[in-house]
Amino acid sequence: EWTTGSVIDEQVARVREQIGEGTAICGLSGGVDSAVAAALVQKAIGDRLTCVYVDHGLMRLNESEQIEKAFGESTGGAKLVVVDTEEQFLTALEGVTDPEQKRKIIGREFIRTFERAQADILRERGVIEGEGSQAHTSAEGGTKTFLVQGTLYPDVVESGGGEGAANIKSHHNVGGLPDDLSFELVEPLRTLFKDEVRAVGAELGLPDGIVWRQPFPGPGLGIRIIGEVTRERLDVLRRADAIAREEMKAAGLDREIWQCPVVLLADVRSVGVQGDGRTYGHPIMLRPVTSDDAMTADWAKLPYEVLGRISTRITNEVAEVNRVAVDITSKPPGTIEWE
Ligand code: XMP
Repeated sequence: EWTTGSVIDEQVARVREQIGEGTAICGLSGGVDSAVAAALVQKAIGDRLTCVYVDHGLMRLNESEQIEKAFGESTGGAKLVVVDTEEQFLTALEGVTDPEQKRKIIGREFIRTFERAQADILRERGVIEGEGSQAHTSAEGGTKTFLVQGTLYPDVVESGGGEGAANIKSHHNVGGLPDDLSFELVEPLRTLFKDEVRAVGAELGLPDGIVWRQPFPGPGLGIRIIGEVTRERLDVLRRADAIAREEMKAAGLDREIWQCPVVLLADVRSVGVQGDGRTYGHPIMLRPVTSDDAMTADWAKLPYEVLGRISTRITNEVAEVNRVAVDITSKPPGTIEWE
């Protein structure tokens, strides 16, 4: 029989067995999946787990600061390392427009960052001695390193991992991993759906703000800019996204909708008139959806007043944007994210 208590006991036991005397790192995204995965592993192996937050420059406005602040309460006192990798990620994404290529590059840069973090941790523990190519392990046991990921069942299916499933897109934490991975993966949520993960998170005592946080993809705003990802475009999208989220929150819609990607059609321009002049700006696309598990979704019928306020504010406050559109496609045929 499925109960949150039995899932927790079972997964903690499994993780303990898999990791043995090894150490693990867990990429923390700020969302419920990675927080629950980290909390389970923390229960299993204590301080041999280090959480790593990769600040890749693709997060929403002020989000990294909020995640760092919320961390303490959310994972039972696990260790946290924050790495600033904006330059690394944006350089790697230069000139790239293809969605699958973006996902693969972002997945690869995540892994590189985790590898560096892991080497630092092992060096600190005295397991590795020396630097770079001179490095060698000094101890026999305890050197095996694991990477914890909050992969859910739907991620597995849609990345082509399920039986007979097509590869719809490479979720960066599944299909987007490089082939020469030096970590063994630990995925304690691999058989669960989002509502089950939320129940487990609540049972583990994670704060409501984490348990009920709307999904946000690991590749972040990198897959919400249609076209090349640049600092300037990220800045435009961040300002528009903050307005949309603020208005939806003020209208009390946070739990009613599953999530609402805000997408910048950076390679599209259209003529507008703002103030007394002609503009030639970019459209912002709102993609509000309702869903139970993200495998299917309906477009959400947001109140016209809320849509109106979002549109007026974005076009007034974000000079580069002169149109706001709403995506009214369900999944299928559209996916939730545009890329
Ligand atoms: P799609 O666009 O495939 O999205 O309909 C389904 C759900 O998954 C989220 N998503 C991701 N989450 N890494 C993640 O951690 C990813 O690469 C990724 N791609 C999509 C998306 O936000 C939606 O909730």
